[in-house]
Amino acid sequence: MSSSNGTTTVITNIATLVTNDPSLGDGSPLGLIQDAAVVIDGDRVAWTGESSKAPATDNRVDAEGRAVIPGFVDSHSHLVFAGDRTQEFNARMSGRSYSAGGIRTTVAATRAASDEELEANLTRYLAEALRQGTTTFETKSGYGLTVEDEARSLRIAAAHTDEVTYLGAHIVSPDHADDPAVYVALVTGEMLDACAPYARWIDVFCEKGAFDGDQARAILTAGKAKGLHPRVHANQLTYGPGVQLAVELDAASADHCTHLTDEDVDALAHSRTVATLLPGAEFSTRAEWPNARRLLDAGVTVALSTDCNPGSSFTSSVPFCVALAVRDMGMTPDEAVWSATAGGAAALRRTDVGRLTPGAYADLALLDAPSHVHLAYRPGVPLVSRVWRRGVPVI
Ligand code: NIG
Ligand code: FE
Repeated sequence: MSSSNGTTTVITNIATLVTNDPSLGDGSPLGLIQDAAVVIDGDRVAWTGESSKAPATDNRVDAEGRAVIPGFVDSHSHLVFAGDRTQEFNARMSGRSYSAGGIRTTVAATRAASDEELEANLTRYLAEALRQGTTTFETKSGYGLTVEDEARSLRIAAAHTDEVTYLGAHIVSPDHADDPAVYVALVTGEMLDACAPYARWIDVFCEKGAFDGDQARAILTAGKAKGLHPRVHANQLTYGPGVQLAVELDAASADHCTHLTDEDVDALAHSRTVATLLPGAEFSTRAEWPNARRLLDAGVTVALSTDCNPGSSFTSSVPFCVALAVRDMGMTPDEAVWSATAGGAAALRRTDVGRLTPGAYADLALLDAPSHVHLAYRPGVPLVSRVWRRGVPVI
């Protein structure tokens, strides 16, 4: 196969290839091809099909009967921060409950950190995630909560990903604890102006102890007017207006979705808004699991992500989240792998990642296992053995 923009590489002898293209292979949502090959041309997938029919290329990699999946699309993380919250975790595992208030600890540490420290932390967590197969990630501000600290958090994030989210509305800044309205005015005014150039998305933690429905609507609407697209931290700790608001504003995603009424599920099912489930948070806060089965049975598009952050979910591992979702949230292994790849892409309104079809980015992970099912079947085992990002072998 001749290349248009770089060398061509074929990965042959793949026992199970997950394409996420239902028109391929077994016709399931995962578009599974057995005894498959993938051809990479430059940064893109050029061809997928049966190994015996693969075209000739410059380079050849033998998968030796292992599985290849699209790189994970982690559509929800909070990676610009300093410090950790070991003590809070310890207290929680001794019976204390999680609340939004712990965010203040990380805000203080983040404000005190230099740009270099924040960037070094971010790159360390990204390297961790890449080793575990994450090739696309979203990340947020939300631990600065001043104009300068939010803007620099986003500037640092934007140097590492296109999927950057302005979360000035994570909690009311401790500087304005007595007057939330003043803080909302800042988040929708001067802070938004300083942050919008670095961000694609705007998010609000719509929750008791954070922002109510009216405040969240005002913040997301102001962001939309500046060209940012909404996503919402919704219905994590309690029932509330977050999911309905996400649907009302055509948010790309409502994230957490742990406490949902039938009306919430119905609203999601009749919308373009993806429900992003974050089982690392329920695991690390010992909370009730979100019910993925209920959402899937209602026809809702479900994504799975890490929510990696120092408070509620300090894991960068999508495979861990896949295993939890299968064990405890009613997902099949196929559904969980789809949600962690194509589902994450849908939550970011992307079609160029999360699938292995001609034209998509050549972002893929080779597993030390014959099929993707092993991600749930062998929890905690580091099965990701090689990773290509944009056609380049990175692990
Ligand atoms: O998604 N829910 C709000 N934000 C994070 C937790 C942040 C923190 O505790 O530091 C979350 O779980
Ligand atoms: Fe979060």
